[in-house]
Formats: sequence, structure tokens, C-alpha cells
Amino acid sequence: MPGSAGVRIFSRMSRLDVRPFAADDIPSAGRLLAQRHRRHRLAQPLLSARFEDVEVAVEAVRAAFEADDASGAVAWRDGEMVGYLLGAPKPSPLWGPNVWVEAAGQAVTEADVMRDLYGVAATRWVPESGFKAQYVIVPATDQELVRAWFRLGFGQQHAHGIRGLPTGPPSPTKVVIRRAARADIPTLAQLEVELPAHQGLAPTFSAGKVPTVEENIAEWEEDFDDPSYATFVAELDGEVVGSAVGCALSKSSSHAGPASVDNAGFLGFAAVFPSARGAGAGRALGEAVLAWAAESGFDCVVTDWRVTNLLSSRAWPALGFEETFLRLHRLVGY
Ligand SMILES: CC(C)(COP(=O)(O)OP(=O)(O)OC[C@H]1O[C@@H](n2cnc3c(N)ncnc32)[C@H](O)[C@@H]1OP(=O)(O)O)[C@@H](O)C(=O)NCCC(=O)NCCS
Repeated sequence: MPGSAGVRIFSRMSRLDVRPFAADDIPSAGRLLAQRHRRHRLAQPLLSARFEDVEVAVEAVRAAFEADDASGAVAWRDGEMVGYLLGAPKPSPLWGPNVWVEAAGQAVTEADVMRDLYGVAATRWVPESGFKAQYVIVPATDQELVRAWFRLGFGQQHAHGIRGLPTGPPSPTKVVIRRAARADIPTLAQLEVELPAHQGLAPTFSAGKVPTVEENIAEWEEDFDDPSYATFVAELDGEVVGSAVGCALSKSSSHAGPASVDNAGFLGFAAVFPSARGAGAGRALGEAVLAWAAESGFDCVVTDWRVTNLLSSRAWPALGFEETFLRLHRLVGY
């Protein structure tokens, strides 16, 4: 501009300092987690309000840090923590030589910092510990953070979902829903084989063990009268074709920390025999669990599914479940 001094301001971000996570980092990490959860609840208010409280968030980070063999990284800029990452292995052989970042295991103020954090944390996880199968639970609504993980070679394996209670009557259907009776145990046991059998195939390729019908019958005989579980069966033309189980979310260990929801019902299991799929039995069973959750005094309903499972990943969103947390997965290989 004629006559102006033409001052140009160059601003450069000051240096990022990334180093392994230490016990002294827990309070600052807890503050970041509470901020992350506050942002998350603006998009999904059904999630638990508790983790917006810094003290609760600090305890969740402490639990993540104190898990067996936990390790991770922190990032500081100008004396402020701008991100942390914490993971620990699960003992089950189902997950391979693994490290898991649970729902309380990460928060950043700038999404791309997660890539620097992973660079430091994964130095311990892969070359030192051999944790090549990696799983991270990420808020579904934080698209920049999901993209940062995507740019670290991760992809989506699983989803946690939530929905409010039903407000109207169930959809009209020719499917008959009733509570399961002891006489249904052999069919329930067969249906419990159908889920892992389906998920062992393409494109899910889950490594979950497929139990035998006899093992399932023995378990059902023992647990059938447990009042914490509500089991429903679906009948088409007088034949049982599917089942679903509802319970309190607190019964599930896979919805922990900020991914746990207070006083939530849980759609814990559902399966329909292959020949009856696509005829509305899954919807009728899901709606029965939703109605049971409402009658039981829960505030909302949670479920989870493999996103590589073409059936459940369509059925549960169609029933109104919205993704809250994504489980991303990377297998370090070739
Ligand atoms: C998931 C499962 C229980 C659903 O039962 P189902 O009887 O096949 O489901 P429904 O026929 O009631 O369909 C449920 C919804 O998914 C939708 N859906 C099903 N297939 C679909 C497709 N290919 N594309 C888009 N939507 C589809 C249906 O339209 C329906 O929604 P709508 O009622 O709004 O139309 C059943 O397919 C199953 O047993 N799968 C194998 C085991 C499993 O995955 N269990 C769940 C583990 S989390």
C-alpha cells in the first residue's frame, strides 16, 4: 500500500517438546482429558458429565498410567502440556502382541501433535516391547484427531454407539418377540455360535474363539435365572430365529472411563439365524431391548459393533445408535 510501512509479522510456533509420560504429568493430562470430554459432550450430551470434572478426569488418567506395563508420551509447548498418549497391553491372546489406548488414554489441543506423541510412545511399544497390534479408542466426533490417527496408518475396526430411549411404540412387524424360556436354551446356545461364526468370515476376520453349542448350553443352564440380564427371542412363523440380551452397561468391561455412561442400558448381544436375516427380526429384538431399558429406568442405551461386520454396522445405526467412540487399529507389519 503506498505510504504504509508494510510491516510483515512472521509468527512461528515455538518448539514442541515430546518425551515419555511420567507420573508428574498426570494432573496436566487430566486437565486436557476433561477439556476433551467437554468438547465431546457438546456434540453428544448423552455421554457422562462426570469426566468434565478435572478431578474425575485426573483419576481416569492415573488409572491408565497405573495399568500393568503402561507407557506413553507427553507434549509440551511454552510450558503448557498440549497433548498426552498412554497405552497398556491387554493380557488376552485375542488381541495379539498388543497395546491398547483406552478412552482416557489421549487428549491433545492440536490434533497433529498426536503424531509426534505416537512417534515417541511407539518407540517403546514396537522396537522395545514388540506390541505390534495396536488399538486406540478415539472420540468419534473429533474428525481432526481421527485424521491424525489415519495418517499414522490406523483404520477403523469397531464403534461404540449410544441413543436415547424410545419415545413411541415399536415398529409394526410380523416378528413376535417374547422373553426367553428355559426350553429355548438349545436355540439360544446355537444363536450364540452364529455371532462369532459370522465375524470370523470376510470381511470382519475377527480372531474371536467360536464356542461349541455344548459349552454354550452349559453356561445358559447356569446363568439363565440371573436377573441382571433380560433375554428376548424373536419368532417368525412360530420358530425362534433370533435372540438379544439387555443388561446394565456397567456389566461391560469394554466401555470404560469416559466411554462409560452412568445409568445406561446395554444391548449386549443379538443374533439372527442366517436364513432369517434381513426380515426385521434384528430390528424387533433391538427395539425390545430399548423398551426394556426404558421400563427398567435407564437413561439411554449403549451398544458396540465391529464396523467391518456388514450386518451389525448397518442394523444398529438404522436403529438410531450414533457412534460415540471409534476403535482404530494398526497392525505393524510389512
Ligand atoms: C445384526 C443382526 C442381528 C440384524 O438382524 P436382522 O434380522 O438381519 O436385521 P433386520 O432385518 O431387522 O435389519 C435391521 C436394519 O438394518 C438394515 N439393513 C440390513 N441390511 C442392510 C443393508 N445391506 N444395507 C443397509 N441397511 C441394511 C435394515 O434395513 C434394518 O433397518 P430398517 O428397519 O430401518 O430398514 C443379524 O444380521 C445377525 O445376526 N448378524 C450376524 C451376527 C451379528 O452381527 N450380531 C450383532 C453383533 S453386534
